[in-house]
Amino acid sequence: EVPSIQERYQDSFAIGAAVEPYQLEGTQGEILKHHYNSIVAENVMKPVNIHPEEKRYDFEEADKIVQFARENNMEVRFHNLVWHSQVPEWFFLDKQGNKMVEETDPKQREKNKQLLLKRLEKHIKTIVKRYRDDVDSWDVVNEVIDEYASNERGLRESPWYQITGTDYIKTAFETTRKYAGEDAKLYINDYNTEVEPKRTYLYNLVVDMLEQGVPIDGVGHQSHIQLGWPSLQEMEDSINMFADLGLDNQITELDVSIYGWPPVPAYPTYDAIPDSVFTTQAQRYDDLFALYERLEDKISNITFWGIADDHTWLDDRAEEYNGGIGKDAPFVFDPDYNVKPAYWSIMD
Ligand code: XIL
Repeated sequence: EVPSIQERYQDSFAIGAAVEPYQLEGTQGEILKHHYNSIVAENVMKPVNIHPEEKRYDFEEADKIVQFARENNMEVRFHNLVWHSQVPEWFFLDKQGNKMVEETDPKQREKNKQLLLKRLEKHIKTIVKRYRDDVDSWDVVNEVIDEYASNERGLRESPWYQITGTDYIKTAFETTRKYAGEDAKLYINDYNTEVEPKRTYLYNLVVDMLEQGVPIDGVGHQSHIQLGWPSLQEMEDSINMFADLGLDNQITELDVSIYGWPPVPAYPTYDAIPDSVFTTQAQRYDDLFALYERLEDKISNITFWGIADDHTWLDDRAEEYNGGIGKDAPFVFDPDYNVKPAYWSIMD
């Protein structure tokens, strides 16, 4: 058995992985126990899965992950309480079943807003009360910035925003704090947090929220990155910017794609990926973890968005961009759960 990643970094930060419940068993389960001391659900804690109907929660799959974490002494990141994606429609329908965003009457719009904020409070209260003793870090809101939005603040124009403005963000953090307690760590999570203009949009929103007394403890940087993008300097600057506000940073969804954007050319199979790509990737991981280690006082958790190259959401993009052809390989374990060159580079 190779040395444990989590032990290697025990004085610096927690090491986590995103999982589906079926991955808690067999070889993957063993890898999880050995190499990671933090865990997050890849999908099963998202609103659409955990709260599919207004009066129905489904905790079964989420509970499996929490139970595994308990048995193996792992931290839990909760992902996520509020998002524009993987959220059930019912949240945004008024009592007559009409879409709230289409309402034009100002009085009815105000009523809808209050109804949505109440639903949000109930949603958060129920989930947080159930898991507060197990969860260490909460992704309270996910992806609320959109650099392509037409408003000047770069606020994502999701139904949440269209119906409540930024009040949903405030309500979400305040409600989470209320039920999770003072020790819980609350995060605003997003991608492309390293690069402009998104970084500044996010920074300005966070400053505005903090000034209003909104209880944000840290920024979650998804870090779905590539071999050469973003630059190490951009990553460092971003961590420092938020740390200078007194906030924690976590790397919440790390994967290092072997492709650019859009993700072509694509190698059709794993075996078609040349060794030179894995060498380049190992160097990238080396640089990354050296940076994280240097900034260890400002970063409390590094979570990979998966375990091994057999299962990565990045492969879904082949369907979208390359006629279904293309295999990505973002992690430090290969599809057979053996270590890759990138593993050795983060271990020395
Ligand atoms: C992804 C999952 O990995 C996929 O299985 C699912 O189909 C879509 O969502 N940002 C996030 C994560 O915050 O929740 C997303 O996870 C990846 C991008």
